[in-house]
Amino acid sequence: MKSSIRGLAELVLKNIDVLEADCAKRGVQEPSVLDPYKPGSEFTVDGGNVQQASTIIVAAAQQLIQTVQSPQINSQMIAFSATLAGAIRIATEFNIADILLEAGSKGLHVKDISSICKADPVKIGQILRLLASAWIFKEVKPDVFANNRNSSIMVKGLSVKKLLDDPDLKYSRPEAATPASLAEISDDTGKGASYLFETLSDPKTAFSEEANEAALCRAFNTNLACWDFFELPDQRERLNRFGVAMQGMSKLEPLDITLKGFDWEGLKKGSLVVDVGGGIGSFSLALAKEHPHLKFVVQDRAPVVEEGIDRLKELDPEELESGRISFQEHNFFESQPIRDADVYMLKFIVHDWSNKYSEIILRRLREAAGPHSRLVIVDKVIPYICPTSESNGEVSIPGVLKPDLPEPIVNMSAGIIYPHLSSVVMMLYCNGQERTIGGFEELLAKAGWKLSAVYQHDAFGQYSSQILATPI
Ligand SMILES: C[S@@+](CC[C@H](N)C(=O)[O-])C[C@H]1O[C@@H](n2cnc3c(N)ncnc32)[C@H](O)[C@@H]1O
Repeated sequence: MKSSIRGLAELVLKNIDVLEADCAKRGVQEPSVLDPYKPGSEFTVDGGNVQQASTIIVAAAQQLIQTVQSPQINSQMIAFSATLAGAIRIATEFNIADILLEAGSKGLHVKDISSICKADPVKIGQILRLLASAWIFKEVKPDVFANNRNSSIMVKGLSVKKLLDDPDLKYSRPEAATPASLAEISDDTGKGASYLFETLSDPKTAFSEEANEAALCRAFNTNLACWDFFELPDQRERLNRFGVAMQGMSKLEPLDITLKGFDWEGLKKGSLVVDVGGGIGSFSLALAKEHPHLKFVVQDRAPVVEEGIDRLKELDPEELESGRISFQEHNFFESQPIRDADVYMLKFIVHDWSNKYSEIILRRLREAAGPHSRLVIVDKVIPYICPTSESNGEVSIPGVLKPDLPEPIVNMSAGIIYPHLSSVVMMLYCNGQERTIGGFEELLAKAGWKLSAVYQHDAFGQYSSQILATPI
């Protein structure tokens, strides 16, 4: 019988044929980890064959590593990942990718890097070598570092002089969204993660569903929910960075993905969509542009509504004057003022809240819904790691995609851990969670909704899905 590691290696090779053919067809070279990133060089351009081939390569290669490396090393590398996060934060906050961008491909000696960022060269050298061993930066000569594919995405779009003269500008440019998200993740997520055990083992917080008793609150030694804590006057920098970081995270998901799926076009002319917790209305505006026959009310907290109106006045005053998009101050834990809407929409809301609070939000909408109202939740649907079938408890909902991975791959996440990380990150920030399809079905049923269909764009939960529910 063929060994599993050979089977995995053969899978890698077979799928590399697909990637090479794609490069030849596009007349481009395969990307190198050593060179700075060029936009469009990812193997995901066609979203079909090539995407599937790169997913299989990643899944097979990771299983190969997990099989060949000792279990001690495999698990220790995960336990050590906080150290890597600390190192990446140093690189981001000390503007090291920006310094190396100005140094060019020959790189810069660690003494010169450290003198620009006013840090200890012995310590910075260790940190850069750790990162280079993990494929972030490259050591081109002993103690001389340069940017590579992974570090080059950490540049912030301003000269080093500007970044040093005015540190407040660090995350001010749109290009800084990715470094801001790296700094946010490695800082706050890291702090919260290091208090997960204390939070989950302390009887006062172990079963808590309160946003202000999450691990990050313990890390900050506050009894405020993280979003209230971020709004304190002395947390201004953190709040700014968080805002830019969220833009960076949202870039991981093409906007048109969330615009596709649910049949917005099939709604009758003049149908009303209530965007509950709709923020500054970006998604409603995008939907309104695609489907001019619909009307939207964006509901959120008072300061957010104010910001949304100001922004729309600037971006698209006609849309506001026409009344096709309007804003309304509303607390989604209170009675929903718009009864019998055609669609109630919750985008990136339910994952912020524990089951207790999500159920209240959903119940308020159920009380307002008419028999023909529909609910559209936009959030990730977390896949199970095991293969599913009706015989092992699979929830059968139209539209759920199943991972299509060949043997001998056994981990149905395909090594794509991002959605699962996202779920635990929601827990440590605010006791929220991403949910499996079974989790959504149960939650919706408790609040009086029937989960009737799901629109998905991938089977691994990387991108958000639309979950359609109807009143029970
Ligand atoms: C993650 S954002 C999602 C915003 C928007 N739906 C989107 O996808 O861009 C969560 C939103 O919930 C709003 N929010 C938080 N608590 C709220 C409440 N009690 N009532 C109404 N909105 C609330 C926040 O102000 C924020 O705009």
